[in-house]
Amino acid sequence: MKETVEIFISEAELKTRIDELAFKINNDYKGETLHIICILKGSIFFTCELAKRLTVPVEIDFMQVSSYGDGTESSGQIKIIKDLDSPVTGKHIMIIEDILDSGRTLSRLIEYLKTKNPAGISVCTLLDKPSRREYPVKADYNGFEIEDRFVVGFGLDYAQRYRNLPYIGILNFEED
Ligand code: PRP
Repeated sequence: MKETVEIFISEAELKTRIDELAFKINNDYKGETLHIICILKGSIFFTCELAKRLTVPVEIDFMQVSSYGDGTESSGQIKIIKDLDSPVTGKHIMIIEDILDSGRTLSRLIEYLKTKNPAGISVCTLLDKPSRREYPVKADYNGFEIEDRFVVGFGLDYAQRYRNLPYIGILNFEED
């Protein structure tokens, strides 16, 4: 099988939309310090591009989690591969995701972060696939609502590859 990638959301479209999201976030968080949490690995590119455009004071931390293989209850535990480096008590935290799919990761992450008593929790995702949702979570900031397509690039992978593409592409499999 040969893999091909067709451009779905171009570099220019990503830039324009991230500009818009940052503008809104800067307005909404005026006067506050925003503690953003990049969810590894997929969110690294989006987090960097978004953070560069934020003008409110920003702190950045990273988490890596896995929510699979732990049963299907939304109240189930997440497996934390990398936890926060510093406490978030009393902070305005924003979870940065590359994609919101079933919502399982996010619902569990929110439950976990609530136990840390932040001042508030918001979610910013670059992509949202609402048709795939199994858990009732919503993003406060969403770059693009998309159909259920196999997307790669700008952080998103297929078998750990394609994350470095500067655009969002659709991965197609073709016979050799
Ligand atoms: C992806 C994505 C979200 C999650 C979304 O991460 O970054 O965290 O899946 O899916 P869900 O809404 O169905 O939970 P993934 O586990 O692929 O890890 P990665 O970011 O390291 O690629």
